[in-house]
Amino acid sequence: MGNWPTIPFPLPPTMRHMKTTARAGSNIAFIKYWGNLIDDIRVPRNNSVAMTLSHCHTVSTVGLDAGLQSDEVFQGEGMMGDEERRRASQHLENIRRAAGRNEYARIATKSSFPAGCGIASSASAFAAITAAACKAYGLETDSTEMSKLARLGSASASRSCFGGFVELLAGRSHEDTYSVQVAPERHWPELRDVIAVVSRERKSVSSSVGHVMAKTSPLYEARISSLPPEISRVKAAILDKDLTALGEILEREALCLHAIAMTSRPPILYWVQETIAILHAVRSWREEGVHAYFTIDAGPNVHIITTSDCVRPVLSRLDALGVSDTIVDEPGGGPVFLDEHLF
Ligand code: DP6
Repeated sequence: MGNWPTIPFPLPPTMRHMKTTARAGSNIAFIKYWGNLIDDIRVPRNNSVAMTLSHCHTVSTVGLDAGLQSDEVFQGEGMMGDEERRRASQHLENIRRAAGRNEYARIATKSSFPAGCGIASSASAFAAITAAACKAYGLETDSTEMSKLARLGSASASRSCFGGFVELLAGRSHEDTYSVQVAPERHWPELRDVIAVVSRERKSVSSSVGHVMAKTSPLYEARISSLPPEISRVKAAILDKDLTALGEILEREALCLHAIAMTSRPPILYWVQETIAILHAVRSWREEGVHAYFTIDAGPNVHIITTSDCVRPVLSRLDALGVSDTIVDEPGGGPVFLDEHLF
């Protein structure tokens, strides 16, 4: 027998959940979250509706260490910048407070896709961190509670706490602002998000800054009051699996969000030349019988929402446009725990 240290049993609370790893999918918003009622706790002004993705995901390991003097945040490939590292540590503090714990943690995250360029990297990162940290700190949460906590890190992460098609309900306080599932991922398994990656550069204005600036746009209040019927229509289109109805709203909604960004003071212009070329192209492909619609988050990359039978024609047309960097994604499930850790 080797000279192994003895492990006390039952384990004391600080050792019971020492290292936990979770994976969460990113999501693509059909109705976008843009602007907050309460900025610091991310209570959005409007409900948003999204599809959780399967292949674009983040894995996060949280390991508690009572000997640490502060959190240690590590970056994996395609991971967060300095600002997000500060945010990750601040978010751990939210979870510690909810759990009534005080040990610092080591935390690592690794995403399967480029961060900070309009593929909702903060959504999957903060959903994965929340799931892993809640378990590590022994905080019992159902998906609804988790969606409130994840929202404090990044509001779009709230939606990634559920699989399939998800609505983030914008209440008036922390307690009444959480996500609900509209339909599970198996409801519309043939729906696809073909992401045309025209830039892997980190965007110059973060979504968080964009949310604060939104109210400086003269168009903002008009957008807020026009959204409730659009949200009802988008949910009906999802439940009916009606891509034509969904697509018409998607495009209108993406243009509306960017109209707000472009008319904020100072203006934010996320698009590059290739973005606009793809928007025109997607419209013309429909005339050729390719059933596809565009949406764009806060970045230059274009998400083309289509069905599995149209993925090949979409990819070949993108290639002809000179866009060969693509990701094909589909509806994914909610967060899961993994046995393999990042450290
Ligand atoms: C355009 O959730 O990234 O992608 O809460 O500050 O992290 P923070 O913002 P974030 O904003 C997402 C904006 C969007 C639309 C959406 O996903 O709903």
